[in-house]
Amino acid sequence: MNGTSGAGAPGPRRFPPGFLWGASTSAYQVECAVHTDGRGQSIWDTYSHTPGTIHGGDTGDIACDSYNRVDEDVSLLSDLGVDGYRFSIAWPRVQPTGRGGVNQRGLDYYRALTARLRDRGIMPVATVYHWDLPQALEDEGGWANRETAERFAEYAQLVAQALGDQVGMWMTMNEPQQAAHQGYRVGTHAPGKTDYELAAAASHHLLLGHGLALEAMRSSLPGRTAVGIALDLHPVRPTSEDALDAAAVLDAEHNRIFLEPVLHGTYPARARAELLPSSELIKPGDMRTISAPVDFLGLNYYCPFYIGLGDWDDLRRGETPLPGHPGLVNYAPPELPKTTMGWLVEPNGLYDTLVTLDREAPQLPIFITENGCASEDYITPEGEVNDQERIDFLEGHLDAAWRAIQDGVNLAGYFHWSLMDNFEWARGYQRRFGLYFVDFASQRRLAKRSARFYSEVARTGVLPSSEAMLQASGGDLVNGDIRSAARPVPGAL
Ligand code: FCB
Repeated sequence: MNGTSGAGAPGPRRFPPGFLWGASTSAYQVECAVHTDGRGQSIWDTYSHTPGTIHGGDTGDIACDSYNRVDEDVSLLSDLGVDGYRFSIAWPRVQPTGRGGVNQRGLDYYRALTARLRDRGIMPVATVYHWDLPQALEDEGGWANRETAERFAEYAQLVAQALGDQVGMWMTMNEPQQAAHQGYRVGTHAPGKTDYELAAAASHHLLLGHGLALEAMRSSLPGRTAVGIALDLHPVRPTSEDALDAAAVLDAEHNRIFLEPVLHGTYPARARAELLPSSELIKPGDMRTISAPVDFLGLNYYCPFYIGLGDWDDLRRGETPLPGHPGLVNYAPPELPKTTMGWLVEPNGLYDTLVTLDREAPQLPIFITENGCASEDYITPEGEVNDQERIDFLEGHLDAAWRAIQDGVNLAGYFHWSLMDNFEWARGYQRRFGLYFVDFASQRRLAKRSARFYSEVARTGVLPSSEAMLQASGGDLVNGDIRSAARPVPGAL
């Protein structure tokens, strides 16, 4: 790893020409209109309407009303001055039961959205699957059923045919790790299953779905349209030498379980057997399909994990039990700030992840497809949202991205999560990630201070110097200076 990690850069930080600046959302989190124009039911409709699953009983029924506000939302992006908008396509809008013909009215919404984006010079960047599986497919076993991977490839081909002339970049899916782990292993996301075997099967079939979709989309897309996948990766940092082994196992189970099959066609040797698909599930040719070369890798980066050995009956400050791993604890180093999600803020984790990815797949283009933070945002009596934490977060992470580029990583773009506050899965509307504040009662959107800051960076391609940032913040900038408290496991993310 190169020596610039953590060093504050002296002058303004200029990104390479052509670097793609963008913002992200996903269908269920913003769209609403869950019964409109023939949309079918998804697992998130079912899950969010199940009592006790979502904070405050929230659902995505209304969300940001984006289905009815195409012009307004495209204007937000245009005001921001970004080059690209990453959104996702709701499978049950296009195929209400997950199979068969196309529901044209559902597709029309995406054609209207992509056309408006292109009118404004914004590249549509589409994710084919961001967790909203048609309920009808879940009723037949969902991702634990191999057939779902085949249905997914058919659906991916349909949207590639219908929108291929509009969309500039595609991702087959978003964070399959969360879909399998939270959806099928621990039950904190839809469909809410808690079964290790189902989760291991779901992991394999999600990966297979990615590979089959890649093939199907390539045969339908014009020219050399780029297709990739968005993975969520976290550096796993041991807090002491005796936690090295445990950290390597967790790295395998959280990161490499999806990264390795996609890049190298293998499952990670260090993952525990119960997390991996059984050999009967892996049919001849599967791993080759899964590891067909992607045009780019999408990285969703939020936070690192610190792992230590610890006594669950005698926890020390900063320690919490690591679920499923007796004798291991998650550790929160006191010097690292946390977001309102409780996630550690460590820009160097982004730098380290980018450098590790570049080592794994030298010079493969990488896009940061999500990065952002939830903070305690509110409208002041003067009518503003002064989210200095988000500006600090952005500054720290854009600095890390810039340093990785200086050190030779082929990082080609950055999409902030999120364009606007939205339905944050199990946390409902309680957690705000947006550059735009959404007043959910009136659906009014308001640019936060961070939107103005990000807009300036996106328009100029320059992150101002640390000194200029410090002056602008009134002296309370913190995140740009954060150093990692422990050394990462060699070779681990
Ligand atoms: C990611 C999801 C995205 C959003 C952010 C905060 O895991 O991909 O939809 O909820 O977390």
